[in-house]
Amino acid sequence: MTTLINTRVLLVNRPRGKPKASDFCIDQTLISSSAPAGGILIQTTHISIDPAMRGWMSDAKSYLPPVKLGDVMRATCVGVVIASGCRAGIHSSNNISVNTCNKAENVRVGQMVKCDVGGVQTYVSISEDGMRHVKPLPQMAHGISPSAYLGVLGTTGLTAYFGFYRVGLPKEGDAVLVSGAAGATGSVVAQIAKRIMKCRVIGTAGSDEKCKWLTDNDIVDVAINYKVAGKSLSRVIREAAYPKGVNIVFDNVGGPFLEAALSNLALGARVVLCGAISQYNSDSSISPQTITGPRNYMNLLVKRASMKGFVVFDYRKEYRHAIGELSKYIANGRLIHSEYVVEGIENFHTALMTLFDGTNRGKAVLKVSPKNFIKANL
Ligand SMILES: NC(=O)c1ccc[n+]([C@@H]2O[C@H](COP(=O)([O-])OP(=O)(O)OC[C@H]3O[C@@H](n4cnc5c(N)ncnc54)[C@H](OP(=O)(O)O)[C@@H]3O)[C@@H](O)[C@H]2O)c1
Repeated sequence: MTTLINTRVLLVNRPRGKPKASDFCIDQTLISSSAPAGGILIQTTHISIDPAMRGWMSDAKSYLPPVKLGDVMRATCVGVVIASGCRAGIHSSNNISVNTCNKAENVRVGQMVKCDVGGVQTYVSISEDGMRHVKPLPQMAHGISPSAYLGVLGTTGLTAYFGFYRVGLPKEGDAVLVSGAAGATGSVVAQIAKRIMKCRVIGTAGSDEKCKWLTDNDIVDVAINYKVAGKSLSRVIREAAYPKGVNIVFDNVGGPFLEAALSNLALGARVVLCGAISQYNSDSSISPQTITGPRNYMNLLVKRASMKGFVVFDYRKEYRHAIGELSKYIANGRLIHSEYVVEGIENFHTALMTLFDGTNRGKAVLKVSPKNFIKANL
C-alpha cells in the first residue's frame, strides 16, 4: 500500500456577498492509495462549477444542507477509478459462503465515473454506502468528453430538459424568452426550444460577444445584451416578442430580468423559475434591501399566467431517458455544447467567480491539472 497526497479546497468562511478567495483554503493531506472495502478510490479529472455552490456556502436552509466550515467544498466530479475495494470472488467463513464482491463490483479500475459527492479535491475515497452516488460513464461517443457528463449530459442539460419540457410545456411556434442564454443551462434550453420544438427564441446575455455567439450559431432568433438594454430591457423584449408577447419565460437569473419578462407575457404564459443567479450574492446581513423581486407579479393574474419553480433532482428516475434524448440531439447536430474550462484545483475561486462576472460561456468546469498530483516522498 502506498500513500497519496490529496489536494483539497476547504470552505473556511461563510461568504458575505460575493465569495472571496480567503473564504477557502487549499490543503494537502495524506490518503491511502487503496479503496475502502466495498468502495472505490477516484482520481478526479474534472469538477463541476455551479451557481448552487453559492447557496451551499451559506447556512440558510436549502434543498441540500450547507457545507460545514472546514469541510471539503461540495461538488460533482468525474474521474477515473484507481482502486477498488471489491475483492472479487467468494470466500468461506465458518462454513458459510460469503460473496465479498459488493457495490464496487459495478465499476472496474480504469473506468471513468461521475460522483455526485466528489468535492473539490484530487482524490475521492468512496465508502460502500457512498457507491449510490457513483455512476459509471458509458463508452464516450465521438466528440463527447467525460466532462460533458457535468454539463450537457449532466445536471445543467437535465435541468434544461425537464424545466423546459415539463414546466414550460412548450408548443410548436411558442415565443420563448430565456435568460442566461449563453450559459450552460440557458444555451441548452434555447436550442431545444428553437431546433426541436420550432419555437421563436429570444435570449438575453451579458455581452455583445455572447449575443453574437448565440445568433451566429443559430441558438436564438434574437439576442439581447441586457447590460446595454439596462432600464429599457422590458421595451426591448416587447419589440422582440411583438405583437403577442412571450408564451414561455425560462428564467436563470431573476432580479430586473424577471420583472421585465413579466411585463411581456402572452395570455396563458408559463414562467419557469429555474434559478436567480443575480440574487445569490445578495446578503441581508449587508443590506435588508438587497433582494430584488418582481413588483409587477399581478401581470400573472391579468395574463392568466403561471409561475412555477422546480428542482431537477425531482426527475431523477427519468434521467436515463433524458440523457438518451440529449445524446441523440447532439449526435444529429441539433444540440451544440460549449465548456469554459479553468485548469488547476488552486484556481477554484477564479472558476467560481466566472459564473458571477459572466466570463463563462457554456458549462463552467474546473480541470484538475497534472501538477495537482504530487508524489508523497515517504
Ligand atoms: N432548478 C434547478 O434544479 C437548477 C439546476 C441547475 C442550475 N440551476 C440554476 O440555473 C441557472 C444557470 O446555471 P448554470 O449552471 O447554467 O450557470 P451559467 O448560466 O452557465 O452561468 C451563470 C451565468 O449567469 C449570468 N449572470 C451572472 N450574474 C448575473 C446577473 N447579476 N444578472 C444576470 N445574469 C447574470 C452570467 O451570464 P451573463 O454574461 O449573461 O451575465 C453567467 O455566465 C442558475 O440560476 C442556477 O442556480 C437550477
